Amino acid sequence: MKNILITGGAGFIGSNFVRYTLEKESGVKIVNYDSLTYAGNLDNLADLPDQDRSEFIEGDICDGGHLDEVLRKYQINLVVHFAAETHVDRSFLSPEIFHQTNFIGTLTLLEAFRKYYLTVDESRRKDLHFHHISTDEIFGSLYPEQEPFSENSLEKPNSIYAASKTASDVMVRSYFHAFGLPITITNCSNNYGPYQYPEKLVPLIILNALEGKPLPIYGDGLQIRDWIFVSDHCRAIWKVIQNGTLGQVYLVAGTNQPTNLEIVREICSLLDEKIPESKYYPHINLILHVKDRPGHDRRYALNTEKISTELGWMPDLKLREGLEKTINWYLEHPGWVKNVQNQPNYQQWLESNYSSRVRSE
Ligand code: NAD
Ligand code: DAU
Repeated sequence: MKNILITGGAGFIGSNFVRYTLEKESGVKIVNYDSLTYAGNLDNLADLPDQDRSEFIEGDICDGGHLDEVLRKYQINLVVHFAAETHVDRSFLSPEIFHQTNFIGTLTLLEAFRKYYLTVDESRRKDLHFHHISTDEIFGSLYPEQEPFSENSLEKPNSIYAASKTASDVMVRSYFHAFGLPITITNCSNNYGPYQYPEKLVPLIILNALEGKPLPIYGDGLQIRDWIFVSDHCRAIWKVIQNGTLGQVYLVAGTNQPTNLEIVREICSLLDEKIPESKYYPHINLILHVKDRPGHDRRYALNTEKISTELGWMPDLKLREGLEKTINWYLEHPGWVKNVQNQPNYQQWLESNYSSRVRSE
């Protein structure tokens, strides 16, 4: 039996990964370690398959003593580290929290893992592994004519979020070189799918459109992101953990690059198809251009040749297919949606982020 410590497993990707792993891998036990910030949600863990193989522990990755105890008590073989502050717009308002969680939290977790590694019998150390989840945002922005980023691209982060994730990536890599710790890293593009907190573009647009609220597009909406359905990301992470080379970084992406306007139009067209009787039909009329994000990165794109040639991983879902699944999930989970929308923090966030964004022409 492999004992896995998943940090941030009550968040969007972490909870999808918990579910994915329990479904696909009968030989694993999961310890889900999460401090339940505004983004952590126990509703994300309702109806997990095979519940006996997972345990939730409320804990902070900045609490080294607690991490020491958990690693030892559960005889952890594998750490998969998702826990982070993740919303770029929020990072401009509270840089310290992003630094604390994403950098200091990762460092604290690495130190706990290093101490634990040294207590494990040498013959068993080959079964230990630390996998760090990161983002394409560490590379900064691409001009239209530039080639997609590769694993060898230089880090040039622009937002506070991206800077804090870059610092964590560099620290994880240094623990491989300095201490020989068994680490791997994946840097992934924009995820979408079930259980995503509706501060991020895709769920925000779906829920606003269903309620006939404006669909806020920052600036001209011609920024480009690469979009991946969350289960494709989970599968990539598991591939790297199983077959990746220690010390290596792998880029993961959906390999499609619509503009923000294009993805929002796609969501509107799917909603028109699904709910032609809606009084907000055609949903595209709800689009509203608003004040841009500061230092908004113009374009991200990733070259995924390394993970596809070395490990045989490719994304499965096309964008429209993934968006349709996502819309269906939000339509089929009104209770989950209502609980999130009723959180005071969520309402405050909508108010503080959107009421001040005056309409741009
Ligand atoms: P999320 O915001 O949905 O969830 C983050 C989780 O981390 C929450 O459950 C939260 O409670 C927990 N957490 C925060 N601070 C913590 C702390 N100090 N101790 C313990 N738990 C804490 O995030 P997500 O979108 O699922 O992202 C997960 C990871 O994937 C992050 O590391 C993020 O940088 C990375 N990533 C996200 C995307 C994306 O598009 N969402 C893309 C690439 C990489
Ligand atoms: O690229 C990977 C990253 O993707 C992850 O590392 C981050 O954790 C994740 O939040 C996401 O960051 P983005 O900033 O790209 O995601 P977001 O959904 O906030 O925004 C996507 C794009 O849509 C971006 O160009 C900003 C724009 N946008 C976003 C919101 C919330 C709008 O135009 N209007 C909006 O209301």
